[in-house]
Amino acid sequence: MSHMDCPGFPATRLRRLRATPALRRLVRETRLTTDGLVMPLFVRPGKGVRRPIPSMPGNCQLSVDELVREARAIHKLGLPAVLLFGIPDKKDEKASGAYAKHGIVQSAVRALKDAVPELGVITDVCLCEYTSHGHCGIVRKRRDGALDVDNDATLELLARSAVSHAEAGADIVAPSDMMDGRVAAIRRALDQHGFEQTPIMSYAAKFASGFYGPFREAAESLPRFGDRRTYQMDYGNAEEALREVALDIAEGADIVMVKPGLAYLDVVWRVKERFGCPTAVYNVSGEFGMVKAAAKNGWLEERGGGEGMLTGFRRAGADIILTYWAKDVARWLRE
Ligand code: PBG
Repeated sequence: MSHMDCPGFPATRLRRLRATPALRRLVRETRLTTDGLVMPLFVRPGKGVRRPIPSMPGNCQLSVDELVREARAIHKLGLPAVLLFGIPDKKDEKASGAYAKHGIVQSAVRALKDAVPELGVITDVCLCEYTSHGHCGIVRKRRDGALDVDNDATLELLARSAVSHAEAGADIVAPSDMMDGRVAAIRRALDQHGFEQTPIMSYAAKFASGFYGPFREAAESLPRFGDRRTYQMDYGNAEEALREVALDIAEGADIVMVKPGLAYLDVVWRVKERFGCPTAVYNVSGEFGMVKAAAKNGWLEERGGGEGMLTGFRRAGADIILTYWAKDVARWLRE
C-alpha cells in the first residue's frame, strides 16, 4: 500500500519542497540572523588580560583594554549588542563593587561607549559576582535560623547598581537576581536619576538550574554555602513563570527573559503568546558547554548542534537570544 492509497490523502507531497538547498531556502519559516543576538562578555581588572575560561571554550575573562578590542571585532561582525558581567578584584558582604562609580563594569561601559558607541551595551545587574559568599543579595539569618538572601535589603543595592550602570552609559540594564519587586525598584531609581529612557530587560523567569555550572566558573560566583533555590524558580513550574513575567511587566520591564532556554521552550512559547512583548532567551553556559564537549569528542558537529538549538529558540518565539555562540553564528552566516 502506498501513502496515496490512504483515503483523503492530499496530492501534495511535503518532501517536494525539501529536495534541494534552493527549495529549502525558499520555504524556510524561521531564519537565524545576527539581529537579535547578544554576546555575553566577562570583564576583570588589569591590562592586556585574556584569561581563557576552561569550561567555556573560546570565551575569556578580559581586561577593559582587551574588552574594547573584542567589542570592535563583535561590532564588525554585525552583532547588535553585548552583555557585560564584571569580576571585581575585591568582594565583600555588601557587594560594594556592584555599585561603585569606578567599579569594573562601570569602567568597562565607559570605555566601550567611548570606543564603539554604536554597539549596544547591556549590563547584568546582580550582586553574586560581588558578594564574598557568592549569593545574589544580602544574606541574613531568617526567623528559622537558616541563612538566606534578604529580599528587600537587596533591592536598594540592585537599584544603585542599575543607576551606576546607566550613569556609565549602559543602553539596557538587565537584573538577573530574582528578588521580588526589583524591576519596580530599579525603574523608580532610574527615573529619579533622569534615566527614564533606559530600558530594563528582566530575567523574569529564571530557573534554578544545573546548566549554570560553567558560568559560575567564568564569573567566579559559585555560592559558598547553600544554593539559589530560595530565589530562583523551581523547574517544575510553568504557570508560576507566567506570573513572574506578568509581575515584571506590570513593574515596568521592557523586555522579559526566560532562562535557561533549551529545557524551557514551552515557557518561551507561552510567554510570547500571552504577553506579546519583546522576549529574550538566555542560551546558558551549560547548553553551550555540552555541545562544545560533545563536539570535542567527535560525537556531534558543533555548527549543526548550535544552529539547531538557536533556531529552536527563535521558533519558540524568542526575539533576542543571549548566546556564547553569537560571534560564531555571525561567522557561520557569512560562510
Ligand atoms: C547571575 C547570573 C547567572 C547567569 C547569568 N547571571 C548565574 C547564576 O544564577 O548562578 C548564568 C548564565 C549562564 O549560565 O550562562 N545572577
